[in-house]
Amino acid sequence: MRRVADAVDAQFDLLLAVPDDPRAALFNAMRHAAIGGGKRLRPLLVTATSKLFNVEENSALKAATALEALHVYSLVHDDLPCMDDDDLRRGKPTTHVAFGEAEAVLAGDALHALAFDLLADEHTHPDPFVRAEMVSCLAKAAGPSGMAGGQMMDLAAETSTFDLSTVTRLQQLKTGALIAACVEVGAILGRVPIEGRTGLRGYAHDLGLAFQIADDILDVEGDAELAGKALHKDEKAGKQTFLTLMGLGRAKEQANMLVDQAKSHLNGYGEEANLLRAIAEYTVERDR
Ligand code: IPE
Ligand code: IPE
Ligand code: MG
Ligand code: MG
Ligand code: MG
Repeated sequence: MRRVADAVDAQFDLLLAVPDDPRAALFNAMRHAAIGGGKRLRPLLVTATSKLFNVEENSALKAATALEALHVYSLVHDDLPCMDDDDLRRGKPTTHVAFGEAEAVLAGDALHALAFDLLADEHTHPDPFVRAEMVSCLAKAAGPSGMAGGQMMDLAAETSTFDLSTVTRLQQLKTGALIAACVEVGAILGRVPIEGRTGLRGYAHDLGLAFQIADDILDVEGDAELAGKALHKDEKAGKQTFLTLMGLGRAKEQANMLVDQAKSHLNGYGEEANLLRAIAEYTVERDR
C-alpha cells in the first residue's frame, strides 16, 4: 500500500505542477486534496488486479491514478457545506476550509476531468479500444447509475426510511460502483474478455459492500485521530445505514461474511491473487 501510495503521490505531483498564472489557487487546491494521505485502496485494487494479467506497470499506475483522482473529487464534494459539511479529511482541513468553497468545487470538477483525461491518454495504454473501454467503465461507475446516484440516495437516507435492500443498493452505488470499476479497469488493461471477468466482478461486488459497512462501523466506533476525519456523523445526520438497520453485531458479521464470499470468488486463481485476498481482509480489519 505504501509503495502504491508513494507512486500515486509522485504521479499527482507531476500532473499538477502549479502554473505561474491566476490558476495557481486551483492547482494548489487540487494538490491539497490529492497529494498525501488516504489509504489509496482504489489504486491498489487497479494495480493488484492488473498484476494478475501481467499488465505493464506504467499503464497500471496511470490508470490507478485516474481512479484515485475520481475518488478524491468525490471526497472534496462530499465534504462541502451543502453535502456533509466536514472540516477534516485525511487528517488535514478539507479543501473548502483550506481554499474556499468555490475553489473546492472547481478542484473537484478538475480532478473529475483529470481522471478521464488520464484514462484517454495514449501514454496510459497504446490501444484506443482499451482506453475507450476504461473511460466508459469509469463514466458508468461515477454517474447517476453509480456514485452520483448513490450520493443522492445517501442524502435521501437522512429523511426517508429505507429497507435493507434499498440501503444495500445505496451502498453499492455510492461506494461499490467505484471499487468495482477499479477491478474492472485492471481486467480491461489485462485484456480479459467479459466472460472471463465473472469471478473478479463477484469479488469486487462483495468487497465494495464490506468496505462501506466497515466505513459505517468506523463512524460509530472508530478513532477520529486515526481516521483523520470527523466521526459519529451518520448518527447526527439521522442517516440510515447497515448499522441502524441491523445493529453493530450483525453488521460486523455481515461484513466478515462478505469478505469470505469475496475471497471465494477468487477460487479460480492461485497464489497470484493473494494480494486481492489480503485487500479483502484489510477492508474490514482497518482502523482508518
Ligand atoms: C472514504 O473512502 C469515502 C467512502 C467512500 C466511504 P476511503 O475510506 O477509501 O478514504 P481514503 O481514500 O482512505 O481517504
Ligand atoms: C462518501 O461517503 C462517499 C463518496 C464520497 C462517494 P461518506 O460521506 O460516508 O464518506 P466519509 O465518511 O465522509 O469519508
Ligand atoms: Mg457523504
Ligand atoms: Mg462524508
Ligand atoms: Mg462515512
